Amino acid sequence: MPERIDWEPLIAAARAAAARAHAPYSRFAVGAALLMEDGTVVAGCNVENRSYGLTMCAERTAIGAAVSRGLTRPRALAVVTTTAPPSAPCGMCRETLREFAEDLPILLVNPDGRRVETTLAELLPFPFELPGRG
Ligand code: THU
Repeated sequence: MPERIDWEPLIAAARAAAARAHAPYSRFAVGAALLMEDGTVVAGCNVENRSYGLTMCAERTAIGAAVSRGLTRPRALAVVTTTAPPSAPCGMCRETLREFAEDLPILLVNPDGRRVETTLAELLPFPFELPGRG
């Protein structure tokens, strides 16, 4: 049986983070919230740069913030965007998340209340592997 996730606090944290997005170039705010193994919720927003390629996605700022706090085991991820249907994490974020979780329930949410439930394994079925590292 997959673990039941209480998504509401994660959605609230991701929404609050999206409101802090630094997205003056794309004007596309993204909020991500990770539920960590110990129950801590760690959120992140996208942080853009005038040198566009330096932009950090919300999912990667969230996992970076978690790891920086010594929390390396995510149990669930909520992502808030304003698109319809709600946007999924980009490929770079999928690989970054895969570094810390073989699989992860992921909920994509938008302001219309649209919710799409997926998993990291579904979004990244064929991840990059290093020989001997699993
Ligand atoms: N973005 C994210 O925050 N997460 C993703 O998975 C894809 C894209 C951000 C990056 C940029 O600030 C804006 O969305 C438009 O690409």
